[in-house]
Amino acid sequence: MTTKQSASPAFQGKAKQSSLVPGHTAVPVSSDWVARSLRSVWHPCTQMQHHETMPLVAVSHGRGAWLYDHEGRRYLDGISSWWVNLFGHANPRINAQLKDQLDRLEHAMLAGFTHEPVVQLSERLSTLAQNVLGHCFYASDGASAVEIALKMSFHFWRNSGREQKQEFVCLKDSYHGETVGALGVTDVALFKDAYGPLLRQAHIAPSPDARGARPGETAAGVAHRAIAGLEALLQERADRIAAVIVEPLVQCAAGMAMYDALYLTELRRVCDAYDVHMIADEIAVGCGRSGTFFACEQAGVWPDFLCLSKGISGGYLPLSLVMTREHIYRAFYDNDVTRGFLHSHSYTGNPLACRAALATLDIFAEDDVLNVNRQRAARLTQALQPLAKHPRVRHFRNQGMIWAFDVVFDGPEQQSGFARRYFTSALQHELLLRPIGNTVYLMPPYILDDDDIEHLASRTLTVLNEVLNLS
Ligand SMILES: Cc1ncc(COP(=O)(O)O)c(C=O)c1O
Repeated sequence: MTTKQSASPAFQGKAKQSSLVPGHTAVPVSSDWVARSLRSVWHPCTQMQHHETMPLVAVSHGRGAWLYDHEGRRYLDGISSWWVNLFGHANPRINAQLKDQLDRLEHAMLAGFTHEPVVQLSERLSTLAQNVLGHCFYASDGASAVEIALKMSFHFWRNSGREQKQEFVCLKDSYHGETVGALGVTDVALFKDAYGPLLRQAHIAPSPDARGARPGETAAGVAHRAIAGLEALLQERADRIAAVIVEPLVQCAAGMAMYDALYLTELRRVCDAYDVHMIADEIAVGCGRSGTFFACEQAGVWPDFLCLSKGISGGYLPLSLVMTREHIYRAFYDNDVTRGFLHSHSYTGNPLACRAALATLDIFAEDDVLNVNRQRAARLTQALQPLAKHPRVRHFRNQGMIWAFDVVFDGPEQQSGFARRYFTSALQHELLLRPIGNTVYLMPPYILDDDDIEHLASRTLTVLNEVLNLS
């Protein structure tokens, strides 16, 4: 790719502004970083050729809910930088704890060694899970946590003399990450189909997505119907099935498909009845995103494995973990090394990441975040009412600190490339939003003030009208 091709139109022309500001040495402008990035960085989840027309934003710094580029243009981070950031960018309280940790211990391996941040974090998370999930196993990214939960479930049954239990069940439209094992329990064709021959396919059970309600049916009715479908599968094959994996309350990558908590209560019941593990992937919906610290709390159940990542480090550093129960831990506890869980990652339980997580939990406790978020969410829901009533909007929905709506189009041209056009137009309106298909969603950090709420709500509407040529 030539430099000329790779310079994004949004920044073309800026290159002339050069790097020299009187009194300063080279101050890079966005276009420099964009061109260099397009030459050397293979960006994730991106068809790179799209950057011939779609902007690439070179971020210079972040402050609170805002990201800034090198020209000082700002963007309200309406999706918490891929759902990770909870308390804003460059949060002074998290920064202070990280700086302190940097001078103590940056990293030590977790096999044969331990350290204060990982112990404190495990204890505090176990307390939050009412000591039901008392054992924490660490990794770095979300997909790794999913791999761990799947492997632990499989290995538990093997250690328990039931090695025929090797299969997994996931929900229709589920997303659990992009490593080969996690893709096997993912049902998003766009991410999965190209790798089909590499994957060990899971059974796909019906989704309780409330949008699937039949005329007159409630969200609880959809949940009952979905459970009936799962139960039929378990009746037939539970002797072969190790675990069912779900994203509690919201299937995020499916386009923020929200469902009734009753599904989780019923899922716990059928998993117990058929002796199958329940894996709750709370990587996106945990840490207060759904309205409670753990989404499963809203169903009054605890899973056998609970995966956390993203928000747990406040959006600072890669950290993931799987929490599990005493009897599962005990099934691996033995003199025989092969009965142990020998999985590992080099940065497992990294002290800096754990310390960021401790700082994040401190903020939850000190600022009564879950309660304050309820009021914040009510204000944003109110501000979004013009969108909820918009003639092109369907299924306006909200769960905790997640909002979403689906857009209907007046023709295929309007639909084609909608998400990219929305993203590009949003940038021009000082907003970072990345729709999924025809679903526009908001997943902001938990620090929006009234001005931010107004900006987020009004610009989301302006951009929609602009992209649909209604303004
Ligand atoms: C529910 C869920 N599980 C797993 C993952 C994978 O996490 P990571 O991207 O950190 O591997 C994601 C990422 O979006 C997710 O939303």
